[in-house]
Amino acid sequence: MESGERGGAVELARGVYWVGAIDWNGRDFHGFTTPEGTTYNAYLVVGEKTALIDTVKADFAGEMLERIREIIDPAKIDYIVVNHMEMDHAGALAELKEHTDASIFITRRGRDILDGYFKPSGCDDWDFQIVRTGDQLILGSKTLVFLEATMLHWPDSMETFLIENSILFSNDAFGQHIATSKRYDYEVGDLIPAAAEYYANILMPFGVPLLRYLGRLKEYGISPKQIAPSHGVVWKRDLDKILKAYTTWANGKVREKVLVIYDSMWGSTEIMAKEIAEAARKAGVEVKLLHLRKNTRNHIMKEMLDSAAFAIGSPTLNNGIFPSVGDFLAYLKGLRPPKKKAAAFGSYGWGGGAVKTIEQELKNSGVELLEPGIQVRYRPEGSELEMCRDLGRKLAEISKE
Ligand SMILES: Cc1cc2nc3c(=O)[nH]c(=O)nc-3n(C[C@H](O)[C@H](O)[C@H](O)COP(=O)(O)O)c2cc1C
Ligand SMILES: [Fe+2]
Ligand SMILES: [Fe+2]
Repeated sequence: MESGERGGAVELARGVYWVGAIDWNGRDFHGFTTPEGTTYNAYLVVGEKTALIDTVKADFAGEMLERIREIIDPAKIDYIVVNHMEMDHAGALAELKEHTDASIFITRRGRDILDGYFKPSGCDDWDFQIVRTGDQLILGSKTLVFLEATMLHWPDSMETFLIENSILFSNDAFGQHIATSKRYDYEVGDLIPAAAEYYANILMPFGVPLLRYLGRLKEYGISPKQIAPSHGVVWKRDLDKILKAYTTWANGKVREKVLVIYDSMWGSTEIMAKEIAEAARKAGVEVKLLHLRKNTRNHIMKEMLDSAAFAIGSPTLNNGIFPSVGDFLAYLKGLRPPKKKAAAFGSYGWGGGAVKTIEQELKNSGVELLEPGIQVRYRPEGSELEMCRDLGRKLAEISKE
């Protein structure tokens, strides 16, 4: 049965059910703006024994329990697999444990994190089984294999493969932040943009562990027929597409694309931004002009994922950068986009300061500085505009290399 509805639960294969929750109105996921909401996916695997893979955010425990009850009394769950202890997947664990004595299968690091979250309410009487890569959990006719996926997304992250049905429960990897009543990729159109935005904002710093992990899937001969992540929908039609996209992103592959990212108080920095962008466009590359208070951080990072170079501009405000520019640079520093080249620009009035601060922060983010930034006193004109055009052309040339 494909995507067969059985009440609110969805059967992905015989005896395998999605029993997660849909966060239709979630608009902020720890700083990631989610205009389309998200889902927290939990999966029930029913063999002779029953395992629940992941739970949901605490507020959605009731919704998950309702879906589980359509299949089985929660008291009959034998095992709970905790792929990742972050609260969007493990938050409902405490409430779930009030209904079941199920043993918890978790990595050593996950167990430590669990202590950090649940100690005050007490989890000392819970039964834990610490698992490592290659360990199996046999449910009778169904077998789960655990695969540690360190740093995808936290130190404890793990994925679980259901051998008989070839389903990889990949937790945060391959996710997308969209709320939908559909459960499969082929039911919702092109998912790659949503997956790219998710990757750029959640997994971008972890390209190296990701490539190692993808290699290990091959080593273990795991070629899933379905990839069931913990956010968004299940990959079934576009498996090759998403695996290829992840390899491309993790390798930091870029194309002929330039971003001009900026903010402006009285329009001077904006004139510079437009001049840079227009010159790059005329040089024949794709350009995106992105105002920092009119675009979300996560949208800009999605655009950055496949761009080769960018310019970032700020007016000087009280000797430093504009707050939205600071916000973005702090975010960028954490995500450390690989293989990017950049330059700074901005307008100032007297002492200046913004361009210098931007350059320092770009260096701290592992971004290669192309040339000293352009600083213009008040409105740019004549030769200053020419310098902006030169920068635009240079960014375009660099992105063609
Ligand atoms: C609230 C405020 C604070 C400013 N502080 C500084 C400053 O500390 N140093 C400086 O060189 N210019 C300062 N300026 C001047 C601006 O940097 C200058 O007007 C610049 O042209 C603004 O660029 P924009 O048109 O892109 O906003 C300040 C301007 C404003 C409105
Ligand atoms: Fe996570
Ligand atoms: Fe997550």
